[in-house]
Amino acid sequence: MAADKWVLSVTAQTPTNIAVIKYWGKRDEELILPINDSISVTLDPGHLCTTTSVAVSPAFTHDRIWLNGKEVSLSGGRFQNVLREIRSRATDYEDEKRGIKITKKEWEKLRVHIVSYNNFPTAAGLASSAAGLACLVFSLAKLMNVKEDHSQLSAIARQGSGSACRSLYGGFVKWIMGKEDNGSDSVAVQLADEKHWDDLVVIIAVVSSKQKETSSTSGMRDTVETSELIKHRAKEVVPKRIKEMEAAIAKRDFPSFARLACADSNQIISGVEKWNRHEGTPQVAYTFDAGPNAVLISKDRKTAALLLQRLLFQFPPQSDADLNSYVIGDKTILKDAG
Ligand code: ADP
Ligand code: DP6
Ligand code: CO
Repeated sequence: MAADKWVLSVTAQTPTNIAVIKYWGKRDEELILPINDSISVTLDPGHLCTTTSVAVSPAFTHDRIWLNGKEVSLSGGRFQNVLREIRSRATDYEDEKRGIKITKKEWEKLRVHIVSYNNFPTAAGLASSAAGLACLVFSLAKLMNVKEDHSQLSAIARQGSGSACRSLYGGFVKWIMGKEDNGSDSVAVQLADEKHWDDLVVIIAVVSSKQKETSSTSGMRDTVETSELIKHRAKEVVPKRIKEMEAAIAKRDFPSFARLACADSNQIISGVEKWNRHEGTPQVAYTFDAGPNAVLISKDRKTAALLLQRLLFQFPPQSDADLNSYVIGDKTILKDAG
């Protein structure tokens, strides 16, 4: 085969994750080291997810990326950090059938083309950077024959977007903030796998696909620079919540899970609170990332059905309205209806 006639590619799919104890604030902007631990739930694959194909060929002259069909710049520090970290860990690759051989040294010179697609709104507060950067790291690592384990890959994904380190694992995941200045111990660990608490149903109410006005990166930077309260949150509030949340997950204790997730989220849905009060014990937890879209977690499938009924009644999906989809943890109930 002529030297420039081959293309080697890998495609991967990664679900997003929704934090129930949030990461908000960095102690190191370059390495993306957080000021507190965080805990999230990774959604089932296929619903809110990123699909990324990465390819190398001797014919490619530049690294390039297309996001949702449009070429975007790869020059940002984060993409470059991820590419550098993966390239430096590439190992020899050989496909005898196709006559392709790439040594560790040659990987450094080969340019990569990346095509990525999110099946949910990008930069709208539904953690596209988590699914996106985790998928990028995972697919590049597969392509370049990187032999690191998930924990080490999570530390690389973290350098692309903090929340991305948690999407390397399914189920319930903790991002340990770590102590080291070089970030080597700031990694994600799985607290419980996806089968552990099978009853939980996550419903995402997409009320707006518009790009949020403040990116997570700059929002948390402003908070760290201007808020006195954030120090108290990171040092006193979150460590206690993390312990309680870990215990709630281990025991599948929904009332505690709901209380903690709602307390850690930055907005209040009076409807959910009223319902939980009315029932006397929590039925549903809500949590928001940095945007208007709501994530609702119901304690079981029966409650999820009741919740959907209420949502559909109160906010019927309309083609001309912003609210156009309800996505449920393991089934897409309604998408772009109307
Ligand atoms: P979100 O709430 O969606 O995570 P952020 O402001 O944290 O919003 O991050 C949005 C940014 O993440 C995008 O502008 C883009 O740079 C990056 N991103 C999102 N999806 C992908 C993807 N599939 N591949 C690569 N980068 C992505
Ligand atoms: C509210 O991971 O998007 O979703 O690290 O700057 O890319 P960068 O920010 P990002 O922040 C996520 C913030 C959050 C809470 C969370 O996911 O823990
Ligand atoms: Co994000």
